[in-house]
Amino acid sequence: MYETLEEIEYVVKQCNKCKLCKNRTNTVFGVGNPNAKIMFIGEGPGADEDLQGEPFVGKAGKLMNEAFKGLGIKREEVYIANIVKCRPPNNRNPEKDEAIACMDYLRNQVMLIKPEIIVLLGSVALKNILGEEYGITKSRGKWIIKKDIKYMPTFHPAALLRDESKKIYFWNDLKLVLEELNK
Ligand code: URA
Repeated sequence: MYETLEEIEYVVKQCNKCKLCKNRTNTVFGVGNPNAKIMFIGEGPGADEDLQGEPFVGKAGKLMNEAFKGLGIKREEVYIANIVKCRPPNNRNPEKDEAIACMDYLRNQVMLIKPEIIVLLGSVALKNILGEEYGITKSRGKWIIKKDIKYMPTFHPAALLRDESKKIYFWNDLKLVLEELNK
């Protein structure tokens, strides 16, 4: 375990623990407030994120930013990261070995940031963080508390792009997060 986010990022930049390192342009470490109370965890970088080295800067990220704006969440006040830090080819889901190889970095980030709340964006984040037995449709919108961290699973923003009817659930789930934070 490393003592600062900068140290982890330095190591991640040179990481070759899994095959995703072969095709990356940039690693996508995470962005935001190192003392954030809310952390968002997505799946893995897409093409835009791979090019820019920042999570959620493509279409899904723009949609997330719009929701943030509407709800009064400042992107720079929260912390945003992914299950894997390198882009899976053709935006496929990260494979189990890739997620496992990358998990220590994310755990270390969580340990240092110490968020009160972690928003799990979609099924890949949910299953890799809380366990394969969870499903996003059933679990979204409900608090799951483990080791002093409150987890809120919700739909992945890319799912909202495919199915607009999911937007309201995403919005409502983030409202629950803000209510919890302001308690
Ligand atoms: N989708 C994700 O899961 N993460 C990103 O950073 C971008 C798109």
